[in-house]
Amino acid sequence: MRKIMVTGAVGQIGSELTLALRERYGNDNVVACGRKTQPSPELRDSGPFEFADCTEEERLDEVVKRYDVGTIYHLAAILSAVAEAKPQLAWDVNINGLYNVLEVARETSCAVFVPSSIGAFGPGTPLDDTPQDTVQRPNTMYGVTKVAGELLCDYYHKRFGVDTRGLRYPGIISNVTPPGGGTTDYAVEIFYEAIKHKKYTCFLKQGTYLDMMYMPDALNAAVTLMETDASKLKHRNAFNVTAMSFAPEHVEAEIRKHVPGFTMDYKVDPVRQAIAESWPNKMDDTAAREEWGWAPTYDLPRMTADMLEVLAARHARGEL
Ligand SMILES: NC(=O)c1ccc[n+]([C@@H]2O[C@H](COP(=O)([O-])OP(=O)(O)OC[C@H]3O[C@@H](n4cnc5c(N)ncnc54)[C@H](O)[C@@H]3O)[C@@H](O)[C@H]2O)c1
Repeated sequence: MRKIMVTGAVGQIGSELTLALRERYGNDNVVACGRKTQPSPELRDSGPFEFADCTEEERLDEVVKRYDVGTIYHLAAILSAVAEAKPQLAWDVNINGLYNVLEVARETSCAVFVPSSIGAFGPGTPLDDTPQDTVQRPNTMYGVTKVAGELLCDYYHKRFGVDTRGLRYPGIISNVTPPGGGTTDYAVEIFYEAIKHKKYTCFLKQGTYLDMMYMPDALNAAVTLMETDASKLKHRNAFNVTAMSFAPEHVEAEIRKHVPGFTMDYKVDPVRQAIAESWPNKMDDTAAREEWGWAPTYDLPRMTADMLEVLAARHARGEL
């Protein structure tokens, strides 16, 4: 088989997606690409690893040709909160980096998976049961790059026949690699702090509802979408997918069922609060369910139990 390449492989999603892909398709068939951060020994030693900056097209081209890559999972990006602090960098990585990946894919006939985000919505978008096809006028640099990315992927499919596919991920909750500076990071940090200190200070306000998903469902969504027969896909790029919608006080209450005495207070970050308020409370993911059989397996109670069990074990081993 032609090989798979994962950009952003050292990040929150990439570090787990790479290992899941290696398990599914064979270790030697999945090339992990980082930028500068050293990979974990498991990531480095279980299959090929390369450093490649996605803003350098020649370097991407060289890795794709050397390994005979046929599918690129393009996860390298600058996330929402960092993008507001460094908008020029976010444009360069999220737009020029994606353009380079699509150009290399066009020249070498690669399929491409690109995650979009709930950040592709904004003021003017219906916040409840946010439709698949609706108003997208985000007012953050992250959102601007995500909408442009969705359109660019559609264009490369329609104009050049590149097999582009993608999902609008909600906040992803996981317990291996910490998140990289997004607005939903609180929903990961809260679990680490519950295990380490039995208390957490939340940067979003009570009542701020956002869509969320546990990592196993996020990985499954990506792989299932990429394996679906193309003839079934009408939307192709940027499918709404969600598994649960909650506000900070709901995850606090769920954690307290397992960690008696756990407390949470609030110190609101105005930048991330404003971003969160411009994002959907709950998306409608019917198109993903109908077109390629999307069905999440983790809700808030099941995810909370698993997160706490895994993190408690890591804490006991001195890893946190
Ligand atoms: N994590 C979430 O909650 C979430 C939600 C919605 C969408 N997404 C999307 O999923 C994708 C992966 O997100 P993540 O959470 O793993 O992010 P992350 O920040 O944890 O990882 C991204 C990786 O990209 C790398 N990177 C940055 N600039 C680069 C460059 N110029 N060249 C190559 N690599 C570079 C970073 O070093 C980092 O390791 C992104 O497109 C993100 O927008 C994530």
